[in-house]
Amino acid sequence: MSAGAAGVPSVFGAVHLGYLVIETRRFSDWRRFGTDAIGMHHDPLDRDRMRFRLDDQECRFLLQRGAAEDVVAVGWHVDDHAAFERIEARVRAAGVPLRAGTAEQAAARGVERLLRFPGPKGLVQEIHTTPIKAARPLRTQVSGFVTGASGMGHIALTSTRPARIRGYFGHVLDARLTDCIDETISGVKLKIRFLRVNERHHSIAVAATRGLPLDPVRTRVQHLNIQVAGLDDLAQSYQRVCELGFDMALSVGRHTNDRELSYYARTPSGFEWEVGWAPITIDESTWEPTTHQGISVWGHKPVGRTIIGTLQQFRNAALSPARWESTVPRLSGTGVSGG
Ligand SMILES: [Fe+2]
Repeated sequence: MSAGAAGVPSVFGAVHLGYLVIETRRFSDWRRFGTDAIGMHHDPLDRDRMRFRLDDQECRFLLQRGAAEDVVAVGWHVDDHAAFERIEARVRAAGVPLRAGTAEQAAARGVERLLRFPGPKGLVQEIHTTPIKAARPLRTQVSGFVTGASGMGHIALTSTRPARIRGYFGHVLDARLTDCIDETISGVKLKIRFLRVNERHHSIAVAATRGLPLDPVRTRVQHLNIQVAGLDDLAQSYQRVCELGFDMALSVGRHTNDRELSYYARTPSGFEWEVGWAPITIDESTWEPTTHQGISVWGHKPVGRTIIGTLQQFRNAALSPARWESTVPRLSGTGVSGG
């Protein structure tokens, strides 16, 4: 374990995005989306739960029946018991309630040593030490998904309180600021901050409107990202998403900061699902945070955006100042190191 700021032992590099829990009622649509379009391995558990795999781990996505149509929990794989206990101690020291996962919860997620505690925007944060390897062979429609030391991809949140979210992940997981993007969408100025917890360019992105405390996105997670191993995997899954009639949100493009080639499909629950290829990884010895102008070098064009969708977005934005964005202030007090 390396030492962080002020000699405090850091968990940076020992934490990886491990799995996500999604609550939905649309099981048949999600099964088609996950397996036939995106190309993941599907495992039914029972009437109210199913899972997708990306690799040899039993669970990368747990879908459980419920009304949220959203990501409800974020699972972090922690490499060793010392780092795990360091995170646990931080949460306990702040007086934030922390619960051991039940045997049933741990089994559904395919992990050992599960702890759960509150996170920003009502996203339950979960840590575990040991992901269980699946006994059965992996059946996917891609040559591979990139996970390993980088973790399985990233989540992106919109927030009216971005400093709180940065502070939370800086304090709990020793997240570092990789870089920022300034972007203008429909006349609204956005600042997006990208946070890393290991070599992956970012495991968490936080988008905030500048000047106006607006959040036009209904869901806790605006999009999630998984990484495919090959360019053909990206192109073929794009084609399957289109041919099967799922909505595309943004066409193929290349991001300015992590240089990832990607597209954004719309999930049956409404939030977006980014499939990406070949993002850069971060060399800690040389990296300096910068600010990029615009999210894309090219592409990422909105597909089929209807006037109804645009009106709905503005309606959500108009309602958002009245919506209460939950934070965990006792864990959000300190800044993110590195920027
Ligand atoms: Fe992304």
